[in-house]
Amino acid sequence: MKAGKPVIAALGRQTTPQVPIWLMRQAGRYLPEYRAVRARAKSFLELCFTPELAVEVTLQPIRRFPLDAAIIFSDILVVPHALGQSVRFEEGQGPLLEPIRSAAELRNLSLGRLAETLAPVATAIAAVRRELPEHVALFGFAGAPWTVASYMVEGSGGSEFATVKGWAYREPESFALLIELLVDATGAYLLRQVEAGAEILQIFDSWAGMLSPAALERWALQPTAEIVRRVKARHPDVPIVVFPRGVGASYARYAAECGCDGLSLDSTVAPEWAAATLQPRVAVQGNLDPLALVTGGGAMREEVTRILGRLGGGPFVFNLGHGILPQTPPEHVAALCELVHDWKRR
Ligand code: CP3
Repeated sequence: MKAGKPVIAALGRQTTPQVPIWLMRQAGRYLPEYRAVRARAKSFLELCFTPELAVEVTLQPIRRFPLDAAIIFSDILVVPHALGQSVRFEEGQGPLLEPIRSAAELRNLSLGRLAETLAPVATAIAAVRRELPEHVALFGFAGAPWTVASYMVEGSGGSEFATVKGWAYREPESFALLIELLVDATGAYLLRQVEAGAEILQIFDSWAGMLSPAALERWALQPTAEIVRRVKARHPDVPIVVFPRGVGASYARYAAECGCDGLSLDSTVAPEWAAATLQPRVAVQGNLDPLALVTGGGAMREEVTRILGRLGGGPFVFNLGHGILPQTPPEHVAALCELVHDWKRR
């Protein structure tokens, strides 16, 4: 009998001989071969929308390391771009968007060209599926409405979220229109990714931890749960992982209400708490501090062993608590894969 893919098995609560591992942002600037391809593309968005290049950088970490999943190379901000907003990525500055600040400006956005603009991502997904080793699963992904709306309204990262929160508090009815537009766009985009060949989906809510509990429920958890329902209505068997970064004890609300198969944990979540509170309901993924991976050696080994000791019994997929940092030595990634795969369940 053919063995299944370990990440899919773990998200389906089956035990696997080894703990599976993949890493958020596993394709990226810490790899010299990524920087070489990046230098050939005119812009970051061109890299995302040229299937040949997107396929190449998706496969780079898979060729180098014994990872159990690939994640299609793209970005969460391709959705605002496809809705008609101006999105640029400046070297060293991160993303820059022409901000949307009112209900009137929402009228400049439309779902009309979404499928056409994002078609190259589907083409790249189909091509990656043909190239992956048999045991390696392919993740599709998108940003959650709250995190994507934050970039759309603030216009860049690194802000204090005063503008986007101000809008949500002052005029919740019109802010809800933006969130609903993103639920529609993201739901359709994720369905398209599954139809192209994505086997698992991850929804990134990187800024969920900025919200009060009531705002979290309304602007982050419920919109994400609605996207999960829409995907599951058509494809009930596709596992979905949600990453509500920084929400602390509210991870338990996600486990109870979100309808997802897995929760990706940031590095502040205590593994023993996650084992007692979350794992009985959902699979968990995480949560090595990306700076422990940069450091490597004994400090990394200690952290990894602690996480595996608490969560490794399953259902569990090893990952970082946030994306790989550009200064990460690639050899440390190889050492991490070996540590995780060699760890034995007791
Ligand atoms: O390997 C993979 O994980 C797939 C590719 C991927 C990228 N971005 C490529 C990328 C994924 C899954 C993302 C998700 C993403 N993008 C998130 C959610 C996860 C998280 O990190 O919180 C967010 C918030 C973004 C928005 C974004 N894109 C920012 C803030 C930046 C600039 C900061 C940075 O890390 O550079 C980007 C640019 C970006 N997206 C790069 C890559 C490889 C670097 C740009 C470059 O190569 O010039």
